Amino acid sequence: MKSKTPNVMCQTIVDPLPKLTPTLHSWIQSFLGETNLHQQLVTDYGSPLNLHHVDPFIENYQAYAKVIESFGLSHLVFFARKANKCKVFVNTAKNHGFGVDTASFEELNQCLSMGVDPAKLVLTAAIKTNDVLVLAIKNQVLIVVDNQDEIDAIKNLAASMNIVARVALRVSGFLINGEKMYSRFGFDINQIETVVTEYVCTTQHLSYQGMHFHLNGYEIEERVAAFDQLFDVVDSISAMGLSTKFIDMGGGFLTNYLEREEEWNHFQAELKLALAGERSPITFQNNGLGYSWSNGTIEGQLLTYPYYNPTPKEHMLRQILESPTAHGTVAQGLVDRNIELRLEPGRSLVDQTGITLAKVVFRKRDSNGDLLVGLEMNKTQLCSSSADFLLDPILIPINRKESVETDSVENAYLVGAYCLETDVLLKRKIAFPSLPQIGDLVCFPNTAGYMMHFYESQSHLFELAENLIISTNPTGLSAFKVSMEK
Ligand SMILES: Cc1ncc(COP(=O)(O)O)c(C=O)c1O
Repeated sequence: MKSKTPNVMCQTIVDPLPKLTPTLHSWIQSFLGETNLHQQLVTDYGSPLNLHHVDPFIENYQAYAKVIESFGLSHLVFFARKANKCKVFVNTAKNHGFGVDTASFEELNQCLSMGVDPAKLVLTAAIKTNDVLVLAIKNQVLIVVDNQDEIDAIKNLAASMNIVARVALRVSGFLINGEKMYSRFGFDINQIETVVTEYVCTTQHLSYQGMHFHLNGYEIEERVAAFDQLFDVVDSISAMGLSTKFIDMGGGFLTNYLEREEEWNHFQAELKLALAGERSPITFQNNGLGYSWSNGTIEGQLLTYPYYNPTPKEHMLRQILESPTAHGTVAQGLVDRNIELRLEPGRSLVDQTGITLAKVVFRKRDSNGDLLVGLEMNKTQLCSSSADFLLDPILIPINRKESVETDSVENAYLVGAYCLETDVLLKRKIAFPSLPQIGDLVCFPNTAGYMMHFYESQSHLFELAENLIISTNPTGLSAFKVSMEK
């Protein structure tokens, strides 16, 4: 039987909306079938709800390790915790022999109190208070130093504690095609020799261990240039009798979120057509997501994450290690100097580990006549640092009395609980297979990397979302076991 939908829900579909089909790990595919469990979890823990599974985290780490080992290199991979706050990832790293990159007192303190080996921790915080420095020095945690004032602070604290602090230097200002790459972080590469020889090695309370860089963006060429230029510096300071134990190349390894390249290209083509007025808008208020229409042409560039990537994660790392420098390939340069490779992937290590579920609260039309679907969540609970999160959400019908029609597509914007006109959860207009009903759930896939936690806020005094851990049930009674993130 067909459901009685109010007139307000009727809509003429003009142009079909482009799809962006997300890649889904097998645990997500199986979990999506467990409708009763979803409903129970949202009833018990509220909406939105973040669910995590650590299997892909371990797989992602092992893939990185395998690539590095295939070049005969030793390694230490740190999970950049800023990507996701759940302790389950810290425990998993600890149990599988990899490390954690910490960016605050709380992150470092938590890892230490969870029993992570201090040798497998690194402190890269952008602002290092005396508290966090004392904690790191006391526990012999490696500190990645950003500037001269930090060197002085560490030196003084270490001297007062009569401990030798272990430090690495963050380097930036590498040249790419003759131009300096901008960074607000680290010491300029041209100053590094002086910093090491005149400031770090002239005090008995600092022990120089290695070099560190983390580059904005995802360019392979820039990372290869950084290694090339660092090899020169390492050689110069080695000639003065100082050995560099490792180079830490930070994070920024690409993640692939989408099934199909054609969809990714088609989406961008349709976005441009919409801006040119040649089709109906596919984004809220025809937002160009970085593109604009000016003087009869499209200007600007897409300012979202590059969601489709044919060479993500360990494949990107392999390409970097195989790339030529003036010192042989990057891998050869490291092997020849007996330098350990360190990395700090965040987003890419939690690829496929998390999803977010949220409950449908209302359907209505805005003053333009567009269908809005209100979800019990706010925009900070699914928030990208780029212009939009471009993966199709998945509608999970709950307790429908009638069968769900799949040929009655409804195009809608998802809106949230903050009192802003701009509180659209996704800027993209979404084609749902049928009109979402009150109580249905919407699943946002692959949200563990930065999307859930990085910007979450408690404005209006809303509670933060609960985080649950899903694992495959060893008893076999039901497919999944659920536990609270503590
Ligand atoms: C120093 C440092 N290391 C690692 C990362 C993780 O980067 P990603 O999540 O892109 O891998 C970041 C991210 O900002 C960072 O600042």
